[in-house]
Amino acid sequence: KRVAVLISGTGSNMEALIKETSSSSVAQIVLVISDKAKAGGLNIAKNYNIQTQIVEKRSNETREMHEERIHSLLIAAGIDIVCLAGYMRILTEFLVNNWRGKLLNIHPSLLPSFPGVRSQKQALEKGVKFSGCTVHFVEVEVDAGAIIEQGIVSIKADDQEEDLIERIKSVEHQIYPKALKLVASEKVKLDLQTGKLIYI
Ligand code: GRF
Repeated sequence: KRVAVLISGTGSNMEALIKETSSSSVAQIVLVISDKAKAGGLNIAKNYNIQTQIVEKRSNETREMHEERIHSLLIAAGIDIVCLAGYMRILTEFLVNNWRGKLLNIHPSLLPSFPGVRSQKQALEKGVKFSGCTVHFVEVEVDAGAIIEQGIVSIKADDQEEDLIERIKSVEHQIYPKALKLVASEKVKLDLQTGKLIYI
């Protein structure tokens, strides 16, 4: 399967996806799209000789128009699966409906706990002893789609937000490639009727 990764920043999950699929027969990362020209991940992708595109949202266009430009690039590149990896925009129905069942996201908490922004800070404030990360199919409702993979990390008493961000990221880098391969090999699918996973 031909895979595109959408980023806005650092791109460490993107890099993990590139590395872990470099010798895979089921998935190859062939395109990286960023909505931020300065995203650090763009240079990383270039170093791996992967095609990159910058698609910044123009102030005179709607979110749908911005997504239509992204969608056209995905179609032109023959993309089968799209992975959001630190893409900092909430998608509209346009992109979600066009890619439903082929659109994955990673979130830095054990969903359904701590959806939304700064999940690691939310976890520390609640005082939970374990948190983690979740790869899920994207639905219109944010951080709510069917869960494909999760990973757990322990929270230590003296953890700061940055500590937890890094500890969770190291697990993100393991579970995201694993989830992508499950979907790319069609061992796992989204049932479009029920919104739940089907294991083949
Ligand atoms: C990750 O923590 C991911 O879970 C969240 O955004 C962050 C992206 O980090 N959605 P990176 O750009 O992959 O390093």
